[in-house]
Amino acid sequence: MTSAPVQDQLVENLLEAMTWEEKLGQLQIAFRPRLQDAADLVRGGIGAIFWPRSAAATNELQRIAREETAHGIPLLVGLDVIHGQRTTFPVPLAQAASFDPAVSETDARVTAQEAASGGVNWTFSPMIDVSRDPRWGRVVEGFGEDTYVNSVFGAAKVRGYQGDSLGDPDSILACAKHFVAYGQAEGGRDYNTVDVSGQRLRNVYLDPFRAAVDAGVATVMAAFNTVSGRPAHANHHLLTSILKDEFGFEGVVVGDADGVVNLLDHGIAEDLDDALRQSFAAGLDIEMGGNVTTSDGGTRLGPGDVPSARVDDAVRRVLRLKLALGLFADPYRSPGDEVVVPSSESRRAALTTAEKGLVLLKNHSVLPLGTARQRVLLVGPYANSTDHLGAWVQSFAEPAGSLAEAIREECPEWDVTVREGTGFFGGDLDLIGQAVADAADFDAIVVAVGEPSALTGEASSRSDLRLPGAQEQLIRAVAATGRPSAVVMFNGRPLVTSDWIDAVPALLEAWHSGLEGPRAVARALSGAVNPGGRLPMTFPRSSSQVPIYYDHENTGRPAKVSGSLAGGVVDVGLMGPGNTDDHYTSKYKDLDLGPQFPFGHGLSYTTFGYAEVDVSPTTITLAELQAGRTVKVAVTVTNTGDLTGDEVTMLFIRDLVASLAQPVRRLRAFTRNSLGAGETKTSSFELGWKDLGFSDNNGRYLVEPGAFEIHVGGGLEGTARCGLDVLA
Ligand code: BGC
Repeated sequence: MTSAPVQDQLVENLLEAMTWEEKLGQLQIAFRPRLQDAADLVRGGIGAIFWPRSAAATNELQRIAREETAHGIPLLVGLDVIHGQRTTFPVPLAQAASFDPAVSETDARVTAQEAASGGVNWTFSPMIDVSRDPRWGRVVEGFGEDTYVNSVFGAAKVRGYQGDSLGDPDSILACAKHFVAYGQAEGGRDYNTVDVSGQRLRNVYLDPFRAAVDAGVATVMAAFNTVSGRPAHANHHLLTSILKDEFGFEGVVVGDADGVVNLLDHGIAEDLDDALRQSFAAGLDIEMGGNVTTSDGGTRLGPGDVPSARVDDAVRRVLRLKLALGLFADPYRSPGDEVVVPSSESRRAALTTAEKGLVLLKNHSVLPLGTARQRVLLVGPYANSTDHLGAWVQSFAEPAGSLAEAIREECPEWDVTVREGTGFFGGDLDLIGQAVADAADFDAIVVAVGEPSALTGEASSRSDLRLPGAQEQLIRAVAATGRPSAVVMFNGRPLVTSDWIDAVPALLEAWHSGLEGPRAVARALSGAVNPGGRLPMTFPRSSSQVPIYYDHENTGRPAKVSGSLAGGVVDVGLMGPGNTDDHYTSKYKDLDLGPQFPFGHGLSYTTFGYAEVDVSPTTITLAELQAGRTVKVAVTVTNTGDLTGDEVTMLFIRDLVASLAQPVRRLRAFTRNSLGAGETKTSSFELGWKDLGFSDNNGRYLVEPGAFEIHVGGGLEGTARCGLDVLA
């Protein structure tokens, strides 16, 4: 690998030699062209393409770029490898449920190795859009509703994709997206307007991007949405002032697919030339769509449209990444080494990830069913469905099997009868009745339900968060038999369970958990695996209760359950059931307070107990914090049950009095430990300057003196609380 000064000189030499048209050719990625068209585009000087589906095809395009263009500049080759190339891992939301960022780093590493072997050198992942509205289909692609969780998992993905060095043959460029606040689309409708205060923009939406930049992310993608009136693609304040100048981001800002063209529909640009001019002036470096140059070799931007220094800056950023990837030295991949089938090691990693993301939402002594001989009835559309890979999956990915197949392999002693009872949509009550008519003959019933993955992902918002079709009727029919039964739910977003949850003895959240998802579920049903995941998003009681999220502000009139303390802090994110008899409080008259299942909720087949929390020191000054001194928080947790299990310990803070209304709790740290029966472990955390403050509406970061509460425990529920005083 050539040294940095030599690389810089190479870039400057190239810039010197390139024409205006050649420079602009580097600033676009052609959006999924046919192969022949791609070859022509490369001959015409385009700098980046979507992956042409094989190492051999990629090599040919790289050859054209190297040998048939004036300066022989190799190509960036992009693909959305979001949670797997050949080996599909659980959807990112399910990965977040593991509360173990190592699984996402592993996913990204395996994914990068598989994708790079075929010539991909750039992925459009991770998505770190904080998502508080489950109607939005894209919640499946990110890490849920919490800012800190998105920061930690996003950084883990970046490390996994980019490896130790971009020059390693199995490293690919990561792309943090979508910059920014895309998760706050009004009404949860994809691509919709975002109007956000300065403090929320920073405290909630920008933080994960800062963490990604700190982790060295090579590229960032602009979001489709406006932010307070100005589309992100043409937003100089966001792309340049904050991302590049303030965060010090030295990589490439890429547009989203036709995001520049969309400025016309936003009513921001008069025509395509105007849209391009505004975007590049705002700080965009690569347009996604291939609209910068024209088929006759011209460009839509003349030297007078965008300052040449801006164009040079963008080209410099692109060329530096190509050099860092080692593409000038060797852009080719050996077709014989292309990974086309998952290795057993990759499958194992996908299985571990799927197992860690399972969340046991309810269990009245039904699960685990054990491995012993028994008659099990498996019903529901997910009994035979193989739709486990989830949104954003490659058409050439290794297909998953069904839950029925996995149960037969993992639980060979069980005598399993499979009857779907109903499909995902439609449904016939007679068929449901027939499916459970002889329920008394079975020792246990497993109900496999969910939303098909086509209802999740981009442009897949839903207004109704209940299970589609007649699946709820099927669940109720099974519950009415009185037989021991467990519902397993496969989905890509929080769903509403209120019409049936009280009737069922057990509910296991399985998500769309990828290639090995069904096996993970079978193992959890038998008890070979003890679920230890937690919800990374609140599950609402009703679709009209959203957005509902744990780190809400208190409001001046917080709702509280009748008889609870007046005043003080009220976690609506936690409360319920029961409504309030206080009239003038923040609530719905026709709905119990709080969510169905709060953020952080998740049970286990064993139980855990916490000892007192130790905070040291309990008083600290602003000056000490600023000088880097930290507060140490330690807690011991014991597995008080009979089975080995994983416990997620979370640390939340609350700033009791501040100049801006603060969230009732904010997650600042978490850890996941595996504990044998009776085993005790201590988890230690540190809180410092960056953990105790917030940004104001002018973008100023403040830690304000005063009293803080520190809550530590296995989620929001039943946490131990202690105090910390920050002195001026
Ligand atoms: C999505 C991006 C994605 C891009 C390229 C867009 O529609 O919003 O997340 O990376 O397509 O496939």
